[in-house]
Amino acid sequence: MGVMTDRLSLFKDKRVLITGHTGFKGSWLSRIFAMAGAELAGYALPAEELSMYRLCKQDSILKSYEGDVRDFSHLRSIVNDFSPEYIFHLAAQPLVLEGYSYPRETYETNFMGTVNLLECIRRGRGFRSVVLITTDKVYREQKNACREDDALDGFDPYSNSKSCAELAAACYRRSFAMSAPISTARAGNTLGGGDFAANRILPDCMRALLKGETVQVRHPYSVRPYLYVLDTLCAYISIAVRQAEQIELAGAYNVAPGAEIIQTGVLVEKVCREWGEGRSSVSSMPDAWHETERLQLNNEKIRNSLHWRPHYSIDDAVRETVAWTKAWQCGEDMALFTDRQIRAYLESAAK
Ligand SMILES: NC(=O)c1ccc[n+]([C@@H]2O[C@H](COP(=O)([O-])OP(=O)(O)OC[C@H]3O[C@@H](n4cnc5c(N)ncnc54)[C@H](O)[C@@H]3O)[C@@H](O)[C@H]2O)c1
Repeated sequence: MGVMTDRLSLFKDKRVLITGHTGFKGSWLSRIFAMAGAELAGYALPAEELSMYRLCKQDSILKSYEGDVRDFSHLRSIVNDFSPEYIFHLAAQPLVLEGYSYPRETYETNFMGTVNLLECIRRGRGFRSVVLITTDKVYREQKNACREDDALDGFDPYSNSKSCAELAAACYRRSFAMSAPISTARAGNTLGGGDFAANRILPDCMRALLKGETVQVRHPYSVRPYLYVLDTLCAYISIAVRQAEQIELAGAYNVAPGAEIIQTGVLVEKVCREWGEGRSSVSSMPDAWHETERLQLNNEKIRNSLHWRPHYSIDDAVRETVAWTKAWQCGEDMALFTDRQIRAYLESAAK
């Protein structure tokens, strides 16, 4: 058995709450915990019509609570009722461009939503471990290899709302005797099947390729710490497990690939090649909003203290994403297909 399989076995019969379970990452995380035999609940807005949540019929693997993280008393009543041992907080307005259009709502959800959850934990009992999901964009200076203690002050409303969530988590940790270790996880752009978000690079590629259109890239020369969805989620799980064993491990963690970096335009070329059918046309398009050209995270802390490392390369991530999308197009059972991808990943991680 590999380290990850061992870590997952600890969740058998444990109560796990995932906020944002109707989203892309929340759907994958729910399937992983369902496979591990956890007792699972989710708290989020209703799933989008076209979503991995609906395609995989996720209602059958968890107790799903519809709710808004901005509604403190509702969130608190659900947390108290379900009484989770582990909490993964993914619920968020997760898009940079939406943040420019709806800054107030973005702060309310991402910042105050996180404060509301922290308050539930401060006032509650029985928690073993809490992981709050932020982003690689929380840093003030978006430079080569940001480290966890670099200054926080994300540029745009989305990024900045997540910097605020980070500050709130750090403040709660030092101000109150919290009943559970709380960490934040700063991951970058996540690649994998089942993401239908607007203005994200792989979903944009999938939509264009399905229609036989040219893939338009807003920033072909931008460099991002792209990571496969299961590598990212296994980092969150590793944080949850290790800080529950050793409380002093609670803190902030960059979740990022090592040396493997890639320009967005090159990533898109890879996707087109993997898709086949002669589609390889990429063009750049103008964009009004600021986006950082080069964003990289230093991942030494999570590698050294939690022994986490990515197991899939960018080529693997592209292959799995294209396969997922084609399986969906062919009308396969997407819950079974997704579980097969998870098992294959865990087997490869165990080698
Ligand atoms: N996908 C990425 O590339 C990426 C990169 C860095 C960080 N993140 C972070 O990871 C987390 C999950 O992202 P995702 O890609 O799965 O996003 P997603 O949009 O697919 O899912 C977002 C989830 O949050 C829920 N949500 C939104 N507003 C809410 C509210 N007010 N109350 C309750 N629930 C609400 C949605 O219902 C959904 O379940 C987010 O915190 C996001 O900021 C994602």
